[in-house]
Amino acid sequence: MTAVGIDAIEIWTGKLKLDLAETFAPEKGEDPEKYTKGLGLHASSFPDAHEDIVTMGANAAHRLMDRKGLTPDDIGRIDVATESAFDNSKPVSTYIAGCLEQVYDEDFHHANKGERKFACIAGTQSLDDAYNWIKAGRNRGRAALVVATDTALYARGDPGEATQGAGAVAMLITEDPSLVELSTDQGYGSADETDFLKPNQQFPSVDGKRSMQVYLARMREALEDYESVAGASHPEDFAYIPFHTPFPGMVRKAGLLGYRHMIRNTSVEEELAEEIGLQPREEDYEDREAYEEAIRNHMDDLKSTAEYQEWYGEVIEPTLSIARQVGNWYTGSVHIARASALKSAAETGVDLAGERLLVGSYGSGAQAEIHAETVRDGWKDEIEQLNVDEQIEGRYDLSFEEYENVHDRHNHDKTIEMEDFTVPDEEFVFTGRGRMNERL
Ligand code: HMG
Repeated sequence: MTAVGIDAIEIWTGKLKLDLAETFAPEKGEDPEKYTKGLGLHASSFPDAHEDIVTMGANAAHRLMDRKGLTPDDIGRIDVATESAFDNSKPVSTYIAGCLEQVYDEDFHHANKGERKFACIAGTQSLDDAYNWIKAGRNRGRAALVVATDTALYARGDPGEATQGAGAVAMLITEDPSLVELSTDQGYGSADETDFLKPNQQFPSVDGKRSMQVYLARMREALEDYESVAGASHPEDFAYIPFHTPFPGMVRKAGLLGYRHMIRNTSVEEELAEEIGLQPREEDYEDREAYEEAIRNHMDDLKSTAEYQEWYGEVIEPTLSIARQVGNWYTGSVHIARASALKSAAETGVDLAGERLLVGSYGSGAQAEIHAETVRDGWKDEIEQLNVDEQIEGRYDLSFEEYENVHDRHNHDKTIEMEDFTVPDEEFVFTGRGRMNERL
C-alpha cells in the first residue's frame, strides 16, 4: 500500500526573544549556566503584539501551501493541536481557515476541521488522525493539514518561567510523502496524572520535579509498548531520536534512559556488564536509599562511557538545536526536534534516505507515544526550504521590563497597551478576538 506520512513542514517562531543568560538570569539572581548548561536553553520566543496562536499557525500554514503550490481544494482536513485555545466552542482550525481563505479564491467549506487537546502530545495525535484518515481511504485524494501552535507561558516567578516559548509548526500529510513515512509501529504509555494541569486557569499548576518523573515513566512504558509491536530496539537502529523537548536537559535524561533500555541484549551491554554490572539489584542493598544511590551511580557510569557519549552526540544532540533557541512550544516541540535533526543531517551532508527515526512524543496529564518513521528520498530538498535560522536570528531582543509587559498582555491582561516591536511583512496579524485576523 502507498506510503503515508509528512510531505512538508513549515515553522513560524514568535518574533520576540528573551535571552536567558543575558536578560533573565541577572534579574533572577541566578548563574546563567543554570539555564544554558543545566536546562540547556539559551533563549525563548514570544509573540509580538500582532501575533497569537491563530496568526502563527496561519502564517506557517500559508507559507507551506504557497511553497507547495496548493489551494484549499487540495486540503480535505485541517486539525489544530494546541493547549492555548481561547475559544471553548469554535476550534482554532476555523480561525486559521478563515485567515487562509482571505488569500485564495477558493474556500475550505469541504474540509473537516477540528482541534486536538492532550497537552503537548496533541500535535502527534493529529498526525496519527491524519494518517488513519488517509489510510482508511476517506481523503478522496486530498491532503491533511496539521498545525501545532502554542504560547507556552508560566506564571511569572514559577520555576517553569525559564522554559517558555511560542511558535507554530504546520505539516502536510499526504500519500507518497517527501519527508518521512509514518508506520503502524507505535506504542503508548498513559495514566491519569496531576503534575501539570490548567483547569479553567490561564497558567499551568506544575509540580516541576514530579513532571520530569512522570515524563520518564510514561516514555519508558511507551517504549516497551512500542517494542511489543516492533520488536526490541537497539541504539544503532535509528539515525535520530527526536523527543518532546520542554527543555534540552529533560531530553538528556530521556536519552540516557532510552539508551539504558536499548542496550539490553546487545554486545555493548555485554562490554558494559563487565565494567559496571548490568543493573543494581535491590536485594543486594541494605535499604531502598542505598539501592537508589547505586542506581544513580550506575546511570552516571553509563553516561560517562565513550559508547554512550558518541551515541548521544550523533543521535540525540542534533535534535536540540532549534529548541535551545526558542524554548518549549508544547504541541510543536517534538516536531521542531525532528526538523532540527533533519536540518543537521542536510547541513553536514549525511544521506538519510531510508534511515529510521524513533519519535518520542509526550503530553502532561499524561501520555507518551513512541513511533518509528522512515526518511523518504525527497527529505533533503524539503528540509532545505526551512528559513527557521533567519527567523530566529531576526527576532527582537526584549529587555526584562519589555518581557514582563509582553508576558502579562499576551496570556493574562489584554488591557495592557503594547506597541509592535517588529513590523508585519505580508503576514496574518491579530486584530482582536471575535474579528477576523487580517493579512498585512
Ligand atoms: P528548577 O527547579 O529551577 O531547576 O527548575 P533545577 O534547580 O532543578 O536546575 C535545573 C538543572 O540545572 C539541574 O540539572 C541542575 O543541576 C542544573 P539536573 O540535575 O536536573 O541534571 N543547574 C546548573 N547547571 C550548571 N550550572 C549551574 C546550575 N544550576 C543548576 N549553575 C524545572 C527545573 C524542570 C522544575 C522547571 O523548569 C519547571 O518546572 N519546568 C516546567 C515543567 C517541565 O518542563 N517539566 C518537564 C517534563 S513535563 C513536560 O515535558 C510536559 C510539558 O511540556 C507540558 C505539556 O505537556 O503540556 C511541560
